[in-house]
Amino acid sequence: MNSTVVKLPKLRPEDYTESSEAARRLAEKTRGLRLHALKTSPDAFASSYEDEVQRDLSHTLERLKTHNANHLFAVDRAIDPWTEQNHDVFFEELLSATFLGSMVIVGPLPREDFTAKKDPLSKGEDRDSTKSHRSSSEAQHYVLNGTFVDPQARRSGLGRRLIDAAVATGQKDAFSRGCDFLCTVLVDSENVAAEALYKRAGFFVSGEEAYVQRPRGELKSMDRVAIKLELRRSFPANLGC
Ligand SMILES: CC(C)(COP(=O)(O)OP(=O)(O)OC[C@H]1O[C@@H](n2cnc3c(N)ncnc32)[C@H](O)[C@@H]1OP(=O)(O)O)[C@@H](O)C(=O)NCCC(=O)NCCS
Repeated sequence: MNSTVVKLPKLRPEDYTESSEAARRLAEKTRGLRLHALKTSPDAFASSYEDEVQRDLSHTLERLKTHNANHLFAVDRAIDPWTEQNHDVFFEELLSATFLGSMVIVGPLPREDFTAKKDPLSKGEDRDSTKSHRSSSEAQHYVLNGTFVDPQARRSGLGRRLIDAAVATGQKDAFSRGCDFLCTVLVDSENVAAEALYKRAGFFVSGEEAYVQRPRGELKSMDRVAIKLELRRSFPANLGC
């Protein structure tokens, strides 16, 4: 399949409204993929389909707007990367594609604030930690969230390509601040595929924590364990600070 992994360009905050045709269509596709993920892989996420189906498009638009989040999508066709010049063409191609997978990288975020009990994209969590993390010797901390590949597109390398694109985005941001890059992801302890995927991409297990998975259907909330995986890349000494 001729697939592409794209990073969403940053629109102006005022463009993320339902009155913007491109933003509305993007939010509809993003919401559709997210609900599909929660339906087909309920054990992989702390949130549930039943909870999220009740949230409207404005919730998705808020998430897309989060200033320190970068959204990556895998789509079913070749798309030229976004440039200022071909902005309209890029969105037209993106919005006519089928979305096969997604991942979000959020940060920099204070490392101590990161927990399975909080959604890094929820309202009020989008602050930039750089004000409190100015030292160049400190790592800037980023979080991966919402990783999903459509069951029919799995085992063809899309998950790995999404991680590589997200890591490259975060690393570039950390290095531009003269800092090491530190990336964390939480994976349910029974999610063999995701754990293998992250380890293959260079992540290592750094701990675990208990969390509560939201109730699904007739089921009750469940106490579960998440494994914390981390990846660190040092700021190259030859770049200077
Ligand atoms: C985890 C997930 C994103 C992997 O996506 P994918 O596109 O199939 O992954 P890739 O094809 O890039 O696989 C890369 C490597 O990950 C590992 N891997 C992926 N799926 C695996 C599985 N089912 N069992 C064991 N290892 C697996 C393998 O090492 C694989 O390399 P290989 O195919 O050369 O052996 C996908 O299974 C998924 O969406 N699962 C449901 C949602 C989820 O678990 N999200 C993670 C939340 S933290």
